[in-house]
Amino acid sequence: MEIEGQTAVVTGAASGLGRAVVHALSTRGASVGAIDLPGAMLEAMADAQVLPVAADVADGPAMEAAFQTISDWRGRPRILVNCAGILAPARVFRIEKRAHGTAGRAIPRALDDLRRVIEVNLIGTFNPIRLFAAALADGTGGDGPDTGVIVNTASVAAFEGLSAQAGYGASKAGVAAMTLPLARELARYGIRVVSVAPGAFDAGVFGNVPAHTQAQLIRDVPFPHRLGRPEEFARLVVEIIGNQMLNGAVLRIDGAVRMREPAVTP
Ligand SMILES: NC(=O)c1ccc[n+]([C@@H]2O[C@H](COP(=O)([O-])OP(=O)(O)OC[C@H]3O[C@@H](n4cnc5c(N)ncnc54)[C@H](O)[C@@H]3O)[C@@H](O)[C@H]2O)c1
Repeated sequence: MEIEGQTAVVTGAASGLGRAVVHALSTRGASVGAIDLPGAMLEAMADAQVLPVAADVADGPAMEAAFQTISDWRGRPRILVNCAGILAPARVFRIEKRAHGTAGRAIPRALDDLRRVIEVNLIGTFNPIRLFAAALADGTGGDGPDTGVIVNTASVAAFEGLSAQAGYGASKAGVAAMTLPLARELARYGIRVVSVAPGAFDAGVFGNVPAHTQAQLIRDVPFPHRLGRPEEFARLVVEIIGNQMLNGAVLRIDGAVRMREPAVTP
């Protein structure tokens, strides 16, 4: 699919990887509906090619309204890039601290913590997909041009998540696992679905990883020995949009890192 002249939707648009994708698509001539949470500094991104829309990706009616606003602005979106996500690491339980430094009771993790990660990362990826795809239901597959392209953001934590990432890893594994069934289901409408699994990138979510784990993750990247740059992620998204044979795949972009558990766990 050519990017120029298309209407695109990017979620998690105000920061990090999503922000880089908004820039990459708008500078290539797309009109971009930039969705993020209310108060996420979206307004500063507004220009002739970018329409900021405040909405929670996990909220059904809010996303329906967001898609309506974007369609009314520049017509039906044919590109969807899902970048919204949270890390919210949490252990299965925590040990209560007592006054004299002795260990107290084990307190199980609140279920709502887990629910929110699944809601934002997994349901918040499916929610825009259902609206985007339904609006393109008149498209046809075969060997014609793309009707639409969907790019999701998983994570290498889908495959080798660390301690305290059971919720995050499960949510990203869910994103990875729904890629092929969605690609198969939407093929007859000419809609492709690809997910990207980044390693450690210089963006917001990585900032929420504890410092000692950050240091090890960077040390472990074989080559290039550094954090990924958001624009490198965006370049892969651009390639996925333009390359019709990319479909149903989960692509790692990680400098060959395979995450391992930090030696020191505080
Ligand atoms: N940075 C990394 O190293 C890394 C690695 C692997 C995967 N990822 C994934 O890449 C994506 C982007 O991460 P990032 O590092 O750029 O993070 P970031 O925090 O810089 O950006 C995420 C954006 O999503 C928005 N967001 C969060 N919850 C939302 C909601 N409910 N509705 C709408 N918007 C919401 C945030 O406001 C933020 O602007 C995430 O899905 C993340 O899990 C990041």
